[in-house]
Amino acid sequence: MKNLLSMDEVSTTEIMQILERAAQFEAGEPSQLEKDYYVSNLFFEPSTRTKTSFESAERRIGATVIPFDAGFSSVLKGETLYDTVKTIQQSGIDAVVIRHKEDAYYEQLLGGLDIAIINAGDGTGQHPSQSLLDLYTIFKEFGRFEGINVTIAGDVAHSRVAKSDAVALTKLGANVNFVCPPEWQGEFDAHYDWDQQIETSDVIMLLRVQHERDAAYEGFTKESYHEQYGLTIDREKQMKDGAIIMHPAPINRGVEIDTTLVECERSRIFAQMKNGLFIRMAILEFILKGRG
Ligand code: CP
Repeated sequence: MKNLLSMDEVSTTEIMQILERAAQFEAGEPSQLEKDYYVSNLFFEPSTRTKTSFESAERRIGATVIPFDAGFSSVLKGETLYDTVKTIQQSGIDAVVIRHKEDAYYEQLLGGLDIAIINAGDGTGQHPSQSLLDLYTIFKEFGRFEGINVTIAGDVAHSRVAKSDAVALTKLGANVNFVCPPEWQGEFDAHYDWDQQIETSDVIMLLRVQHERDAAYEGFTKESYHEQYGLTIDREKQMKDGAIIMHPAPINRGVEIDTTLVECERSRIFAQMKNGLFIRMAILEFILKGRG
């Protein structure tokens, strides 16, 4: 694996190798990198979790982080993404972690560059490092994927997490269902209410309503959206024993999930963020070691 672009391209063997290495990092094993590597994080869209988690992971595996601030870069003078990344490559950087508003922005970078690309989110495309940390969270909980019932609920159409997780979980043998308003089902078949899913799901994964991508509430108020599609206190009581709640965050509290459930016993929302650190250490080590 030279780059991490989308979960379509990551084999089940590679997924399991990354999960295993993440578990070793979590157990305190040191990095296996034997030379100096340089990494830069190019975030053209806002991020709290992914950016800080990648930077922490880079430092923990011994890579040198070269700062990049999109708001003070020559992108503002009209430089293309290709020219920006090629310029960074010429500065001796081995890998870039990129978040960008354009779907599949990485396609323009695949010819003519010798730098590893790690996709930290492309438009409404995919978010593979989030998917891998979601997989790690589920695997730690259940010890398998085969037959696990995962329901992904909310703004599916705009969600790169939904797409990445649906691809990866299906490949690994989980059963993936969607609950959302008809307007937000995107390319997927979906249930338009919780009736069939709430009592049978092992994992309920809630998605943020993405106002920045023009996901209006489509005739809902925040309250009515929460009542119809959110995880309410009453719905949580109907979840089966051992079932868990996930959300990639940031959260619209009181919309996707009742605020009192964010840190309830079933919730793995903050655990997902911690798991992300170990997963990103594993991803970076995997890709940087492959560069020799
Ligand atoms: N889950 C996630 O991608 O969060 P950030 O946008 O804060 O990175």
